[in-house]
Amino acid sequence: METTILIGKDYGYADQVLDFYTQTLNPLSAGYARIKVKAAGINPIDARRMTGEFKHSSTPQAFGTEFAGEIVEINGSTTFQKGDAVLGSGGQFTHASIIDVPVVNLVAKPQNISWEVAGSLAGVAQTAMTIIDELGPIKSLLIHGASGGVGSISIQLAVERGIEVVATASAKNQEYLKNLGATPVEYGPGLIERIKAIHPAEFDASVDMVGTEEATQASLATVKADGQMRAISGRPLSSNKIQALWVKRNVNNLQYVVDGISSDKFQWTIDSVFPFSEAKSAYSQILEGHNRGKVVLAF
Ligand SMILES: NC(=O)c1ccc[n+]([C@@H]2O[C@H](COP(=O)([O-])OP(=O)(O)OC[C@H]3O[C@@H](n4cnc5c(N)ncnc54)[C@H](OP(=O)(O)O)[C@@H]3O)[C@@H](O)[C@H]2O)c1
Repeated sequence: METTILIGKDYGYADQVLDFYTQTLNPLSAGYARIKVKAAGINPIDARRMTGEFKHSSTPQAFGTEFAGEIVEINGSTTFQKGDAVLGSGGQFTHASIIDVPVVNLVAKPQNISWEVAGSLAGVAQTAMTIIDELGPIKSLLIHGASGGVGSISIQLAVERGIEVVATASAKNQEYLKNLGATPVEYGPGLIERIKAIHPAEFDASVDMVGTEEATQASLATVKADGQMRAISGRPLSSNKIQALWVKRNVNNLQYVVDGISSDKFQWTIDSVFPFSEAKSAYSQILEGHNRGKVVLAF
């Protein structure tokens, strides 16, 4: 059996470095499922690895952390079998036509969730659950850059726990943030004054999802002295009072979000879907950083 993998031949922009590579698969290892991928979300980290901003691996490199698809072969599972529709975090990569995934990463795909939604869940769902769990029992939260993948579900998880959320995005996403349950604020000059006008009390916590100096200054100006200030973008920040936060993979957390979407408790927004053959356009779009919700590759 063969798989076609999206690769970055070198570090650079999509048009320069992305290509497809077809290879024969090795025999399936014990504890793994072989998946025919139907959809796979793209995360900013994929595009940032492509450019070389993050050098997690040497080139040529493959991408993708999440997927949904159908099991075509399985080696050592009593829970899943050939033909099952599943989703989850990948093994080494997911932007490929056939992938091998540890069985422990798999979650059954509910029938009432589309392939595109199922394939774009794992990364940001587990990140958002990590954020909300690590912040603990807070009452108010400021989120910078909340209309993207991580922010959209983080707002809903926070609101579900009774946390009051103020969230930033551009003008076009204000109504969207409101519908998710947050009080929206436009980022840009005057941000601190606008936040204080709508939320005069200091926040218990902030999470920065963009990594801008503006977000750093707004957190420092509006979060309690003993509050928590966290950042997930991995970009260098000017204040060491803001602590980095990294996703902890946890299949139970993923299942929680899947159940919430399947039962209509949570909304899941797909910004755009690109055929796998048009991955270059999808990577270019996500690098621009203005998607609402998720960008997805369909196979
Ligand atoms: N630490 C970890 O473990 C971890 C895990 C997952 C992701 N991440 C990182 O976290 C970041 C967010 O991920 P994501 O998937 O949510 O990204 P995303 O989906 O690409 O976020 C895009 C959103 O960012 C908003 N935005 C762009 N520029 C902004 C600005 N100057 N101020 C405020 N908002 C702005 C956009 O809103 P407008 O369109 O309205 O401008 C857009 O809706 C990325 O850097 C990603 O690499 C880290």
